[in-house]
Amino acid sequence: MASAKKVLVLGGKNGLLGQSICKELTANGWNVYPAGRSDFDPFDQAALADVLEREECDVLINTVAYTMVDKAEEEEEAAYRLNKTLPQCVARTCKKLGVLMVHFSTDFVFNGKKDTPYSPEDEPAPESVYGMSKLAGERALLDLEYEKILIIRTSWLFGPGKMNFVQKILQLATERDELTVVADQIGSPSYTVDLAANTRLLLEHDATGLYHLASSGKASWCELAAEAVEVAGLTCRIKPISASEYPQAAKRPSNSILDLKKFIELTGVTPRPWSQGLRDYIFRDLQITE
Ligand SMILES: NC(=O)c1ccc[n+]([C@@H]2O[C@H](COP(=O)([O-])OP(=O)(O)OC[C@H]3O[C@@H](n4cnc5c(N)ncnc54)[C@H](OP(=O)(O)O)[C@@H]3O)[C@@H](O)[C@H]2O)c1
Repeated sequence: MASAKKVLVLGGKNGLLGQSICKELTANGWNVYPAGRSDFDPFDQAALADVLEREECDVLINTVAYTMVDKAEEEEEAAYRLNKTLPQCVARTCKKLGVLMVHFSTDFVFNGKKDTPYSPEDEPAPESVYGMSKLAGERALLDLEYEKILIIRTSWLFGPGKMNFVQKILQLATERDELTVVADQIGSPSYTVDLAANTRLLLEHDATGLYHLASSGKASWCELAAEAVEVAGLTCRIKPISASEYPQAAKRPSNSILDLKKFIELTGVTPRPWSQGLRDYIFRDLQITE
């Protein structure tokens, strides 16, 4: 890179993915400005423009989202505000200033009825408020017809810096002899550290438009939990159950594996399998030793 790129990361101070992105870009020579909700109101277009101009940012990465999938069913307005209105406001400011906007979306835009991995060309059909609000966000960005927008759909995140499914399972596994975990929903678990590195690759390849990006491989929640417990050397038994035995407010897709072909073709890189990321997460980030 000729000169250091400058990037503002919304959600970069406390967000699960935002923290990994800040670490990855900083380690690779970028000037990174992580922003939390106490720094400025991202809905305030003038305040956002001030920050982008003052820091001379080339890129803005938005990781802010309403991510409480079940609570979104009863807090529809709040979900749409963060998942549709916010990216729309931010993108308008980016367009005005010529700043590249990177935005994250989700595998939950799909209904799971397909039995092979989902590619970016597949028609979304979300069945939860969270999925619908995230899809509305994607569409609001694409409607702006601004060529400097990159939307990355990802899935099932685990990584350092914030509580997530894997960490919760490991915590419960130390307290109980048996845990029941859903086995008939399959997706692409993704290690945020690898996702951040691969997001950097997309930026270095000047990617725009819509990409799917996750760790390689697939798993059910039950397989992910069982692998985490085994790698951590815990003895808790993981018992598979069906989604119907574990009622949740939001409907989740039974298959939401992401097809990574478009990313691999552009970068020439195949993301590491989730099981390798899991080992780094458990041994290096959580510092669990058997
Ligand atoms: N987590 C997953 O498994 C998953 C799966 C698929 C896709 N995604 C997508 O990946 C992206 C990152 O997800 P994540 O899990 O890293 O997100 P997260 O940690 O749940 O949240 C990211 C940030 O959103 C900010 N935020 C939440 N409510 C806010 C509000 N009312 N006002 C202002 N800021 C608010 C928080 O800011 P503060 O730091 O200031 O609190 C937080 O740092 C999202 O677009 C998400 O939809 C996530």
